[in-house]
Amino acid sequence: MEEWITRTEAYVREKLPIDATGHDWHHVFRVRRNALAIGRTESVDLLVVELTALLHDIADHKFHGGDETAGPRTARQWLESLQAPEDLIEQVCQIIARLSFKGAAVAQEPLSLEGMVVQDADRLDALGAIGIARAFSYGGAQGRPLYDPAVPPEQHASFEAYKKGAGPTLNHFYEKLLLLKDRFNTAAGRRLAEERHDFLAEFVRRFLDEWA
Ligand code: ADP
Ligand code: NI
Repeated sequence: MEEWITRTEAYVREKLPIDATGHDWHHVFRVRRNALAIGRTESVDLLVVELTALLHDIADHKFHGGDETAGPRTARQWLESLQAPEDLIEQVCQIIARLSFKGAAVAQEPLSLEGMVVQDADRLDALGAIGIARAFSYGGAQGRPLYDPAVPPEQHASFEAYKKGAGPTLNHFYEKLLLLKDRFNTAAGRRLAEERHDFLAEFVRRFLDEWA
């Protein structure tokens, strides 16, 4: 099992090169570290947590023409190549399919406890200084303006609408990032999120202040 981790780490590192959208392997490694830290405070299977954290962004829908099945499918192929047991593969792939934020007004599909831990770790990386950097880097890579007061934020009621949204990056703070604080699953995740959320809120406040 140690070998599955080592080989998966090498695979992810090779497959996710440096990118401008905040989804590179540095992100994955931060998510793994936080997922293990949070996971140690819960009764979870840490092997599932670690493998899922490593594989969670292996084929994100945003970079596969909106195809939501690419992530779980790619993870499954990889784990099958390691000859991992089917129930482990199923656990990992179900989490990957349900992990993503799908819109402010879209209900979360049920997650296993391992899934909750990885989701909290992934969401921590969307907050704080790194969260701000990732948002503007992603927005820049998509050619989006920083801000436009004429374009109000939306509360997306479907994943389709959320995916199609092309508003300025500052809107993303209202459409997702500032909402995450109340959607953490674990006590440890929530605690780690607090300070990062406050920093984000302060950033938005200052941004709008300077704009005005
Ligand atoms: P999830 O981890 O819930 O799947 P995503 O992969 O969609 O989230 O997004 C990860 C990070 O990419 C976000 O936290 C944010 O920093 C950035 N991002 C995604 N969508 C946008 C957007 N529309 N505008 C700005 N940043 C975005
Ligand atoms: Ni991620």
